[in-house]
Amino acid sequence: MDPCILPSTGFDPSLLLGLTAVAILGGGLSVWAARRRSKRSGVALAVPFLVLLLLAGSQVTPPAASAAVACPPAPAGAPATGGGTTAPVTFEPGSAGIGDPYYPLDGNGGYDVQNYDLDLAYDPATDVLAGTATIDLVATQNLSAFNLDFDTRDAAGADSIVIGDVRVDGASTAFSLASTQISLVTAQPVGDGSPDAVAEPPRTELTVMPATGILSGTELSVEVDYAGVPITIDDAFGLGGVLHTPDGMVPVGQPRAAAVWFPSNDHPADKATLTMSMTVPIGLDVIGNGVLASTVDNGPTSTWTYVMDRPMATYLATAVVGDYDVQTTTVDGVTYRDAVAQSLYSQGTLGADARTALDLNPDVIAYLSSIYGPYPFTESGGIAVDLPDLGYALENQTRPIYGFIDEPTVVHELAHQWYGDDVAIERWSDIWLNEAFATYSEWLWSEDHGGDTAQQIFDDTYSLDASDPFWSVEVADPGAPRLFDNATYYRGAMTLHALRLEVGDPVFFGILRGWAADNAGGNVSTAQFEAYASAAAGTDLSGFFDTWIHSSVKP
Ligand code: TRP
Ligand code: ZN
Repeated sequence: MDPCILPSTGFDPSLLLGLTAVAILGGGLSVWAARRRSKRSGVALAVPFLVLLLLAGSQVTPPAASAAVACPPAPAGAPATGGGTTAPVTFEPGSAGIGDPYYPLDGNGGYDVQNYDLDLAYDPATDVLAGTATIDLVATQNLSAFNLDFDTRDAAGADSIVIGDVRVDGASTAFSLASTQISLVTAQPVGDGSPDAVAEPPRTELTVMPATGILSGTELSVEVDYAGVPITIDDAFGLGGVLHTPDGMVPVGQPRAAAVWFPSNDHPADKATLTMSMTVPIGLDVIGNGVLASTVDNGPTSTWTYVMDRPMATYLATAVVGDYDVQTTTVDGVTYRDAVAQSLYSQGTLGADARTALDLNPDVIAYLSSIYGPYPFTESGGIAVDLPDLGYALENQTRPIYGFIDEPTVVHELAHQWYGDDVAIERWSDIWLNEAFATYSEWLWSEDHGGDTAQQIFDDTYSLDASDPFWSVEVADPGAPRLFDNATYYRGAMTLHALRLEVGDPVFFGILRGWAADNAGGNVSTAQFEAYASAAAGTDLSGFFDTWIHSSVKP
């Protein structure tokens, strides 16, 4: 029988096969031990009753042979191709990455997720998250198998989350797990023998192997039952994933975050809607993306259901649990849900300051709408969390999370709702399309509110000496480990200001508005932006963009 072949999706698939094989053939602990980091001790996972119930009667499938050579047969009656001749229909595994050269194992190939429906329970006493993720997807190739990203294992190789069952259209389905360590330095997959320290956690690929092949275009419902303690990410970009607090959790992070708490096609190029139900001990709050559709009192617990009905990148999903001071208000048809961790109120002015900053939300949305066009969502707000070590805020769709909060940060995260969220990037190298726009929004707000003008901030930044390493990072291709380099933010924002000077205010603001409107709900690339700006300006701006975003010297 012919071995199945991984389709090429823009990176070297043999590399991925090799990496996967290393993880599988190494057979668990021995291969991991060499690169084990000292910080995590092997404390046994507390398995509460709920988990035992969930797992009762269902065997966890051990890591199996690579799906790359285990192509199930075509279904009976599969259509033949090629006028008159009976060409066999071939089925191949979807690739283990969506094709992003920065993070080759992020996302997956062969399908497109339409909706995630998470039905989960979280217990702050044990940190255990348990339940079922239902993923509605459409096959985009004939699939013998396909992957989901699900980072269930820690860097030492221990299962932090255990998968109980995987079903495809209701039928229990074989699956396997393969993990690849990620360098803490380069953010790249690393093989054995790499001297780099490794990130927590490795990237784990969940391969789903249906009994029969799946024809391209088929809609599938994939259910994954799981339970365990979601991992806190400690990677080249700092902390992320699920951060556990004394009374809850905060799922947050970029570029990776989602896959530690739900199986996903974890890349912004595959946006999907999301329904998230979270059952927590009574008295705790849950804050998620979009509309709070229902809260149900179950006695000792309550179930909160949020619906995000516009497509969303996976890293923007959240389900913050804890004791929060939640205020809601509706202004101009937008419902604001502003949450401040109760524990911040007993730390000097932190709680009151967070509340004051969140109270700016409606004014900021009104201001940004006046420049960029209508706010893309019906919901807004923000979540000020008590995580002093987090050090950043994130533009979670409709409800940014603030590990740090002040007025410019609120402007920044709300600007991302247009640029980054509703208009998301196609590849991580396009990150400046998010960060430059959000940063330039801070400059515009400053100018409009009696602070420094955009020109002053531009001039200050431009005064950095040409020898400063700041100028050496290419904005349109900062490199995987330097995704959030200062150049992404500040040289990116300078690029927008320089574009404004180049084409004049009416054309410039027309570009920003049109960019948001024309790409609403979708994904974009840097090349598209260059073409869009050139068309709007009626002149070829490629020389301008070469100087500002494709160069590693001071313009
Ligand atoms: N995207 C976030 C913002 O600018 C910042 C961010 C998220 C970040 N994760 C990070 C910055 C990790 C540095 C490192 O709003
Ligand atoms: Zn940002």
